[in-house]
Amino acid sequence: MAAGDAAGPSPIMRYPSTVLDQPLKNKDWKKYTKTVAKSGEGVSGGVYFFGSKKGPVKKVVVKPEAHGEAKDKDVANSLLASAGVPVPKGRIVFPDTTEGRDIVAAGQRAGADLSLSGGGGIFDTKFFEVMSTVSGSSLSTASKKAAGGESPEALAENINQLVLLLSAPNIRQQLAAMMVRDAISGNVDRVMKDGLSNIGNIMIEKRNDNKALPRALQSRITAIDSEGTTDEFAEQQQRDYVHNLNDLGKNPAIYVDRFFESIVYYLDQTNAQAGAIFTSHQKYGALHQDLLTSLKQAAMKEALLGARSKETKSEAPLEKELRHRRMVLWDLLTS
Ligand SMILES: Nc1ncnc2c1ncn2[C@@H]1O[C@H](COP(=O)(O)OP(=O)(O)O)[C@@H](O)[C@H]1O
Ligand SMILES: [Mg+2]
Repeated sequence: MAAGDAAGPSPIMRYPSTVLDQPLKNKDWKKYTKTVAKSGEGVSGGVYFFGSKKGPVKKVVVKPEAHGEAKDKDVANSLLASAGVPVPKGRIVFPDTTEGRDIVAAGQRAGADLSLSGGGGIFDTKFFEVMSTVSGSSLSTASKKAAGGESPEALAENINQLVLLLSAPNIRQQLAAMMVRDAISGNVDRVMKDGLSNIGNIMIEKRNDNKALPRALQSRITAIDSEGTTDEFAEQQQRDYVHNLNDLGKNPAIYVDRFFESIVYYLDQTNAQAGAIFTSHQKYGALHQDLLTSLKQAAMKEALLGARSKETKSEAPLEKELRHRRMVLWDLLTS
């Protein structure tokens, strides 16, 4: 048994419990890492699952990023978390640090090259995100799976389960809060974008939806692969997120439509009939309507944060920027 393991029969050997909070020293990545596996999905190259041979944490996700700013990702994640949307726990590691080199070496030994990233692995890695493993599956994968079934009855029941899961109040409110916070942080790689939603960036987990239970125990989503921009809105008039924010204020139904279109798209990948079964489910109309209602409420709540906050001399630039964006939303909702 590895040093540090609690006494007892547990044969599982894992990473140290602090791996998500503090750098691993002394080439510990190389020491602990036993397996490295690449995610099957992802638009820009996906993530790596690092499995350890010792320590309390069995698996962590390491994502090499070629684009974006680590700081903007932090802001996007904390905005989501403070609106009640779960995000992976984690930290940033830069490749030109001792720990960064250790991560690359650990990957190399397991046959993975983390010094390169992006779709096709053609860009130099700018930074790593070391994060917790989110349980459940992406909503794209969950939709593909829901369209499976040996018989028409089994297919109908799988789709029924998907409708029920998406109808869970906690899921609906988290989806709405996520969409609004994405619009505020400038994330254009999930629902607040042109065209089909990227529901690969939403993890979903079925839990117990007994209303008597605390929210924390109910079915939930986790927002992954979150990004944004903290650059000044005024200088970004051409940026996609500016018109996403406009649409959220003036025509939020388009995002609800695109979200469900994306689910239909993934359902149909497995079975061309599945999407139609989903949209003709007797609860589909209510599901669509309820998400739209929640989205409008979340947008108003967000706008009020702007309308109620005052400009102060000590206001940090980020606070000022967020207040400004919320005021844009407020003006759209009240004009
Ligand atoms: N923290 C995580 N825990 C579990 N699975 C994850 C995690 N992060 C990503 N994944 C899986 O890897 C896939 C790709 O990750 P993502 O960050 O979206 O990469 P990309 O930037 O290439 O789109 C996700 O759709 C999900 O299935
Ligand atoms: Mg992604």
